[in-house]
Amino acid sequence: MKNIVVLISGSGSNLQAIFEAQIPNAKVVAVFSNKKEAYGLERAKQFGAAAHFLDPKSFESREAFDDELMKQIDEYQPDIIVLAGYMRILSKAFVLHYLGKMVNIHPSLLPKYPGLHTHQRAIDASDKEHGTSVHFVTEELDGGPVVLQAKVPVFEDDNADILASRVLTQEHGIYPIVVKWLADERLTMKNRKAYLDGLELGTHGYA
Ligand code: GAR
Repeated sequence: MKNIVVLISGSGSNLQAIFEAQIPNAKVVAVFSNKKEAYGLERAKQFGAAAHFLDPKSFESREAFDDELMKQIDEYQPDIIVLAGYMRILSKAFVLHYLGKMVNIHPSLLPKYPGLHTHQRAIDASDKEHGTSVHFVTEELDGGPVVLQAKVPVFEDDNADILASRVLTQEHGIYPIVVKWLADERLTMKNRKAYLDGLELGTHGYA
């Protein structure tokens, strides 16, 4: 059985999708949030996982916060770390500590639009398609190797909220797939490249 720890900052709908997927050989043992009011903490409790809030304001630096977070996460002996709407930049030490076992979901077709406001940026650029990417986490912000993407159309009368909800629906489909691949030890990262069943994945991940 693989232990999964999930980091959130908000609603936690991706967390819920992972719970609902009931991945056979994996269990979400704990959820951590850097926001006290994050609804994902309620979802964690509903599904029987430990729910923790760690307040960044109580720490002098990003490094000090991340060090404590690492310490608390490691008490759960995690095999997989899942970032699901976790909206904090990670310290280098944190990233390196979980290298190869930490994944993130980012609401754009990486390498397009790393960072924030991805939906508005896709609309402003008159993109015809947009989407979401699951990737391994490396030191480069939203820059680790892509594992799986899902595309959605962008319609002329879309606004950022409508587009975000179309993307979110796709996220709920793809994130549990990637977590299952990790749990089944089918997915690995070596030298900052992602491999599924030993085959190297391309720029856009599994296709
Ligand atoms: C998701 O759309 C996720 O891709 C995005 O936050 C949302 C969280 O939704 N993540 C980022 O923007 C990370 N840079 P959720 O809390 O309902 O799962």
